[in-house]
Amino acid sequence: SWTTASIIDDTVAAVREQIGEGRAICGLSGGVDSAVAAALVQRAIGDRLTCVFVDLGLLRSGEREQVEKDFVAATGANLHVVDARDRFLGALAGVTDPEEKRKIIGREFIRVFEAATAEVAAEEHVGFLVQGTLYPDVVESGGGSGTATIKSHHNVGGLPDDIEFALVEPLRALFKDEVRTVGAELGLPEVIVNRQPFPGPGLGIRIIGEVTAERLETLRAADAIARDELTTAGLDAEIWQCPVVLLADVRSVGVQGDGRTYGHPIVLRPVSSEDAMTADWTRLPYDVLERISTRITNEVAEVNRVVLDVTSKPPGTIEWE
Ligand code: XMP
Repeated sequence: SWTTASIIDDTVAAVREQIGEGRAICGLSGGVDSAVAAALVQRAIGDRLTCVFVDLGLLRSGEREQVEKDFVAATGANLHVVDARDRFLGALAGVTDPEEKRKIIGREFIRVFEAATAEVAAEEHVGFLVQGTLYPDVVESGGGSGTATIKSHHNVGGLPDDIEFALVEPLRALFKDEVRTVGAELGLPEVIVNRQPFPGPGLGIRIIGEVTAERLETLRAADAIARDELTTAGLDAEIWQCPVVLLADVRSVGVQGDGRTYGHPIVLRPVSSEDAMTADWTRLPYDVLERISTRITNEVAEVNRVVLDVTSKPPGTIEWE
């Protein structure tokens, strides 16, 4: 539309003016905000933007490819991918407490992102860091904008001690629905533009118990089936989000073929909400639940039971951890 086109033109012009002949860096999370912010800056300064994507191994099936292939194809952006999967599993080994998991994931992410950024900035001077801050975040934090400091790590070698960036926040005047409209107008992949909320710590807080490579694989397979069936049934717009949770330390007896099984339960947590502050469990059609349950128990070897969470928020939170 005209308004969306003018939002894009105005933002691109403002970014061009702010960055001038400089260079910028942008972290991509796989979500819509960082993708749209990066696409706008790419439009403004082209190859002088470098995007960094850290793969923690905690994303859902296909999400790394959406960034690596589809986002890059749609924008032509320069992308630097850091595979930090092993590092993350190492850092999470033996950890079961939800808040400790969050702390470790957040800390490790910042370390890896800073090292990657320092590496990019070592090749050529980078003065700007792009962030997908939205209008509601600006209001909440009191409106200031400014600079960020990235500490280079000694294992990278030969870098200045601290690199200071000016922040570029092209979404500062926008609400979430406007960000999606802008993203669609910029031709970003539909799966990114319309992605439902997904927590930063990703699948790490949807495995109840220790996070391991095998458990991630199990959860990723079950989650892909649930999302596939919900999308096929046309239910995405009705659902705020549907966490799929692996109860990794619980086993129950089952029977399959001519043998007894002793597998793990998967929990479906479909919720309807306006803002995630409160939520109601979504009354999914029985036939959709049946398809999800049948497919998960048939196709995911470690899982022999699918259960439905029928708790509203409060008292339950949306995530299990
Ligand atoms: P809860 O579980 O608190 O979730 O009802 C509310 C919303 O926040 C998301 N969520 C998170 N997002 N980092 C995030 O970026 C987190 O640690 C985190 N924990 C929960 C959750 O998916 C829901 O949309």
